[in-house]
Amino acid sequence: MLDHLGNLARTHSCGALRAENIGNRVTLMGWVAKRRDFGELTFIDLRDRAGITQVVFNSEDAAEAHAKAKELRGEYVIAVMGEVVARDANTRNPKIATGDVEVHAKELFLLNDARTPPFQLDASGDALASEDLRLKYRYLDLRRPQLQANLHLRHRVVNEIRRYMTEQGFTEIETPILIKSTPEGARDYIVPSRIQPGKFFALPQSPQLFKQLCMIGGLDKYFQIAHCFRDEDLRADRQPEFTQLDVEMRFARLEDIYSLIEGLFASVFKLIKVELPVPFPRFTFAEAMSRWGSDKPDLRVQGLELKDIDLPSLSEGEQSKGIVVPGGAKLSRKQLDELQEFAKRYGAKFLAWIKLGEEITSSLKTLGADVVARIASEVGANKGDSVLIVSGKPKVVAASLGALRNEVAKRENLIPSEVYAPLWVTDFPMFEFHEEDGRYYSMHHPFTSPVDEDLELLERAVEGGQTELLGQIRTKAYDPVINGVEMASGSIRIHRRDVQRLVFKALGMTTEEARERFGFFLDALEYGTPPHGGIAPGIDRLMMVLAGTDNMRDVIAFPKTASAAGLMIDAPGSVDPKQLEELHLRVVP
Ligand code: AMO
Repeated sequence: MLDHLGNLARTHSCGALRAENIGNRVTLMGWVAKRRDFGELTFIDLRDRAGITQVVFNSEDAAEAHAKAKELRGEYVIAVMGEVVARDANTRNPKIATGDVEVHAKELFLLNDARTPPFQLDASGDALASEDLRLKYRYLDLRRPQLQANLHLRHRVVNEIRRYMTEQGFTEIETPILIKSTPEGARDYIVPSRIQPGKFFALPQSPQLFKQLCMIGGLDKYFQIAHCFRDEDLRADRQPEFTQLDVEMRFARLEDIYSLIEGLFASVFKLIKVELPVPFPRFTFAEAMSRWGSDKPDLRVQGLELKDIDLPSLSEGEQSKGIVVPGGAKLSRKQLDELQEFAKRYGAKFLAWIKLGEEITSSLKTLGADVVARIASEVGANKGDSVLIVSGKPKVVAASLGALRNEVAKRENLIPSEVYAPLWVTDFPMFEFHEEDGRYYSMHHPFTSPVDEDLELLERAVEGGQTELLGQIRTKAYDPVINGVEMASGSIRIHRRDVQRLVFKALGMTTEEARERFGFFLDALEYGTPPHGGIAPGIDRLMMVLAGTDNMRDVIAFPKTASAAGLMIDAPGSVDPKQLEELHLRVVP
């Protein structure tokens, strides 16, 4: 028999009671986390979002409640009225905040029962049930204290973001979800129109064009906690729908954006009691790629920088670089083979090595002992170290050594904990060449402004037919990176219609195609567009760093799987034939 909640009011959360509450009459409500029976005494761990409180049912003290408590099972929902009592010294539990006290129950109300959960809710680490099972029953997994803490922190972060942006004079503005495609490099999720047969909306990959239109609309300083949708191949740090703090400001200089974002991150990190070092150091894309082989280097790791190596055997357009692994002379053959396999995943043909043990050994011994010793000394390796070397096209060398740097740092425990290493990466190239289809694509998005000095290169590339210059143009784009995670992307935008047209042309769009896709925007650029710029930190990424998890799903209430499915609601699903008909659609099997 279930009891009614009626007029019962909760007086405290399950995490609230302390020694100063001893003697209080309290009413707690929550879920039964654990029940232990000792004849006359029954103990319940009562759980809610705030914590756990031990409740004791004594058959002498409260016979009826005690009898009822024997029926309780895991996840039953109860209310308990009782008195706060000090625990004996030997039963205090310093592991929980309420561990000095317990509640001696007088009355028990059974508000709801529960089926046995399909997995153990208080498991952690390796004992956790499979993630798919937990995602199917996400509402149960959400009862785990870790997820509760992450989501609570997320709320405080978003709250702080709103406070900070408002204080900085920004206005929160909502932009539409049913729009036409904005290019951010992924596929669009599309929504068929019922009223206009054969026409489709696209869900925004970001509010990029709308925020720029806000600037043209004179809205000064815009921000939005924006939901974005991207149909792309998923990785651990990507979700098909995610949240950005989207920002744009008129007459923005690079310095305005840098200080705005540094201040924002600094105030958000205070929530986890971390003082971020500001200002963040800045490195151009070219320097970051050359030193760390990555445009999001993890600067918690000291050293392990990529060093140029002069190898006699290189072909045209190839280079050689290496990293020095401190203490790496002890790497075994097997470990080196594993690292080689790892490097191959990033396109390296093979991984050469030099070990500076008692004697110098190397996979490059055909070069002769002198050359090997010279290389080791030029890259600054000392006795006891090893050097890992990749040769090939600069892109491959950077990608594989950049990834190896992170991998070696992880394996050799070279990443200090509790350290946050922010930086800016700036001056990204405007275009990157894709070998597969032999054309240039925007590295960021096509609304990114070139640096003033390189505008002339863009003109020569497009109007003068010197296409090869496209690869040399640098932009006013910037990414803040923390601990090897790209936290945001942004840029000063193109505000001149002539420049915007050049970029569309450089991307191979004809005038008609540009009009068809972005006519509204090209038109808008004709009506007095102020210079402007902005940025968009990924809130889920930010939350991963703040909560200290490498799984984005841990910071999202209802995330999707790696195959972009919602396991709990079984989405995507099929639709009624009638619905398809209304939408003028037919599914071709
Ligand atoms: P960008 O595409 O780089 O830039 O995205 C900005 C930030 O959003 C986060 N992010 C993601 N987070 C989770 N899952 C994803 N699939 C995902 N994709 C991106 C990242 C990233 O740094 N319109 C531009 C911003 C601008 O120029 O102002 C944009 O969207 O943290």
